[in-house]
Amino acid sequence: MDVLITPSILSADFTNLEAELGRIASADFAHVDVMDNHFVPNLTIGLPVVERLVRVSPVPVDVHLMIEDPDRWAPGFAEVGAASVTFHAEAAQAPVRLARELRRLGARAGLALRPATPVEPFLDLLGEIDMLLVMTVEPGFGGQPFIDGTLPKIRRARQAIGESGLDVWVQVDGGVSVTTIERAAEAGANVFVAGSAVYGADDAAAAISELRRLAALGHRH
Ligand code: DX5
Ligand code: ZN
Repeated sequence: MDVLITPSILSADFTNLEAELGRIASADFAHVDVMDNHFVPNLTIGLPVVERLVRVSPVPVDVHLMIEDPDRWAPGFAEVGAASVTFHAEAAQAPVRLARELRRLGARAGLALRPATPVEPFLDLLGEIDMLLVMTVEPGFGGQPFIDGTLPKIRRARQAIGESGLDVWVQVDGGVSVTTIERAAEAGANVFVAGSAVYGADDAAAAISELRRLAALGHRH
């Protein structure tokens, strides 16, 4: 299983995003958190800014939509060139229709679950998505502690994906650091979002390679 590291620019300096993206050129994706102050109690950036970020990012952009009504808004992010667009299961009216639309527009389609949302109702839809995002904190803010209670869900998701024979990535987001990444990897995650753990480091490239090393170690267990 390939390890993919996707630093979240939520912990970057928002006055200097082009330079901040330059710090993570050794990552696999740049994770961009879009929040609308309704689905989560925080507000970040919208489509016009993401469109510019896609243009200047040295790596493909992985958009995480923490917004209401993704059925209406998510396709726009695929249209401006995001490589991956993830919407929340709790917010989508028609997740299958939306995932198909995102794929039709050339993006990878991601489905996100809050910590208290079970994965079982979505297991029959694995063929419709490219990535399942298991939130390992309540979405909304960076710098929160990893919730270990999400590990069994990661494990069940990975097992179901294995049984299906599909190539669906399992992403974890929230509290991922050098102290937690191994157990998330061991449970079956292969895509790791890290905000404060990368942007809080003096040397972001060194932080990325250390996370990569530890995740690969977790996969060997
Ligand atoms: C939180 C966001 C995350 C956030 C993670 O709702 O979805 O992407 O940036 O931050 P850390 O890695 O600091 O927990
Ligand atoms: Zn995120």
